[in-house]
Parts: sequence; C-alpha cells; structure tokens
Amino acid sequence: MNINKKLAVIMAGLPARGKSYLSLRLQRYLEWQGYRARIFNVGAYRRESLGPASSKSDFFDPRESAFSRERERIAKRCFADLAGWLESGGEVAIYDATNVTASRRAYLKDECERRGFAFVFVENICDDPGIIEKIIWIKLEHSADYTGFGRDAARADFTRRLGHYEGVYEPVSDVAHMKIINFGLSVVRAYGLGNPFLDEIADFLGAVNLMDKEVFLTRHGETYFNCEDRIGGDSPLTDKGVEYAGRLAAHFKGRDLVVFTSAKRRTIETASFFDCERVVLPELNEINSGLCDGLSYAEITEMHPEVSEARSDDKFNFRYPGGESYRDLIQRVKKAVIRIEAEKRDVLVIAHRAVNRCLVSYFIPTPPEEVPYIEMPLDRIIRIARLNAHYGCDWKVI
Ligand code: F6P
Repeated sequence: MNINKKLAVIMAGLPARGKSYLSLRLQRYLEWQGYRARIFNVGAYRRESLGPASSKSDFFDPRESAFSRERERIAKRCFADLAGWLESGGEVAIYDATNVTASRRAYLKDECERRGFAFVFVENICDDPGIIEKIIWIKLEHSADYTGFGRDAARADFTRRLGHYEGVYEPVSDVAHMKIINFGLSVVRAYGLGNPFLDEIADFLGAVNLMDKEVFLTRHGETYFNCEDRIGGDSPLTDKGVEYAGRLAAHFKGRDLVVFTSAKRRTIETASFFDCERVVLPELNEINSGLCDGLSYAEITEMHPEVSEARSDDKFNFRYPGGESYRDLIQRVKKAVIRIEAEKRDVLVIAHRAVNRCLVSYFIPTPPEEVPYIEMPLDRIIRIARLNAHYGCDWKVI
C-alpha cells in the first residue's frame, strides 16, 4: 500500500462525462489489487431518499432553492457515510457526484482535511461530441433515473438537466486534482503531491476508454520445458509449438489487432507469424520461481518439499524463495493492464499460465485464493468481451 492515509477520490464534472463509468473501472482495478475500495454514488442516495420525482430535470434547476438545499443535504449525507466507511476499515472511497461548484468542493476538501483523509479530485472533461453522445446513451440505458421513460422523453429531460448544470459549472482549479480529458486523450496532473499511488490512479484513469474492443489471451506454444513439466526458464518452442504459432496467426488474419508478448523466447516465437504490430512487455514475463526456476514439479517436491507444501497451503500468497507470489505478480502485471486498457484496437496477449490467470482475474472478479487455479491450458484462446450491462463495465469470458 503506497498511501499511508485513507484516500477519497472525488469525481467532478458535468453529467454524461463518464464519472460513473470511470468510478466503476477504478474500483475494479483497485479491488483486483486487494484494496478495500467502494463507490459512494450521490444519485443513488437521492433516488433512495426522494424517489423517482427527484430524477426529473426540474429537481436540478438551480433557481429552485428548496431543491438545491435538498441536493446539498443528500450530498453531505452520502459523504458522511463515505467518511464513516473510511474510518472503519475502508481504504479508497470513490465519491461519484457532479461536484461542479467550487463551494461544494470546498466543503468536501475541508471535510477530508478535518478527518485526516488524503484526497484528490478527478475532473472529467469531454468536448468530443461523439464521446459525449456515447456516454449519454450509456447513461440513459443504465441509470435508474430513466427507467420507464421513452427514449425521446429521456433524452429531452436529460438535455434540460445538463443545461442546469452547465449554468453553474465551475471547472476545478482550486484543489489537488487531475483532469481526464476526452477519455485519456490527455491527463492533466495538478495534485502536486508527488504521490506514486495518485500517479498510478492517473495512469489508469487516463488509459480507460470507451472502445468496444476485445481482449484475447493465450499461452505460448508448447516448449521443451513444457514436455518435461519444468517451470520458468527460457525454452524455445517444439515443432508442435511452432505449429500452434502458425495456426494462431492464421486465426487472427485480417483483424485490426495489436499483439503483446512477454520478453521470453517462447512468447516472442509464438507471435513471430503475425504481421501486425507486436509489442514486448517484460511485465508479462512468467511468475519468477526463484530457487525453483528450471526444475520440474517432481524435482521441487523431492528437493524442496517445504516449497511444495507451503504452496499447496496458500498458493496465492506463497512467494518462491528468491522469486514471486501470485500476489506479487499482480503488482507487476498491472502495468500491462494499463497498456491493454489504453489500446483502442483489439488486443492479443501471448503470455504464460500464471500471468494469464492474473489477467483473467482482472476482467472477471475472482477470489484471490482461486486465481492460481484458473484453468489455463496450452493451445487455447480465451476471448474476453465487454458485456452491455452495468454501465458496460463488466466483461465475460468466451
Ligand atoms: O509450467 C509452465 C508455467 O508457466 C511455469 O513457468 C510457471 O511457474 C507455472 O506454469 C505457473 O503455474 P502454477 O502456479 O500452477 O505452478
């Protein structure tokens, strides 16, 4: 954990700028790494407290002072719950609301300072009509505010709501913040805290985009080490492995694709028949088995019985002497996750058994203790596609 304080990530921006989408994605990314991360969504508090009438655009009219007071009251109640959660064991709380006025942000900043929370504002700015249109339709389709509305009525009411916010919007300038512009087209970092954890959050949020790309994972073709059940090393492919490499390239021919491999000979050889862009990412190298590198599982049991035993007790946390655990591996593979997120084309990852297990568990939430046992045979392609549900933030394995 790089932060020694509790962290509040506070979203800001006009409606339909992707705040909820980015909040969900960030929560997933952090939970995958083992953080206790939770989203506090002010809209959900409003609906629960005031019901569907509060979803109509009139409720957001700044000239209606009674409604404005209600909105502030609900925002504060939601923040109080967030604070209570951080104070009772939470680690990163994401406050998902528009927070478009300087006065609201001043309140949130004071509260964070008073309670000793680290905080950062994340302002989402979009001026690309294509992106805005896409987010509007994601919102109209998924937000509980618009269930029961017809398409045209929902769109018209939402446009009025947006107009109310545009009238009072003051861009973030006064507090520690980052600005995500047009979904990662550029990221402005103005928090000035020199905090690596906030840098990582900025890298992640700046990478996420709205493309409906697909992600494919496969292991390298068969190697001589595989035939002997040996782990690690840098063995070349067997003839059967080379044949798989050829079939793999033929399978993807014609697709707009980028191929990511590890820096190991076996994945680079497996990618060698592709004529698209190929990128070597050392962070995709297989789990470092330290002292056991190059041994077969039978040899490990014979020569280092304590390793086999400790590994079968807790395979996720077990760290090979001089090497890594699955928990460590996630901390390395997360750099590749950011590269995958940033891509706009389909992505094929050619990597290794343990690495691919970690990647699958990013896309499909998996309890840590199950990650080292996810099925990951040679000669298979795992296709991961975005589901059109939950703001488009869920993925499925095909
Ligand atoms: O056997 C191939 C391999 O990729 C090894 O290099 C690696 O140590 C192992 O699989 C990871 O699988 P497990 O964690 O189940 O031993």
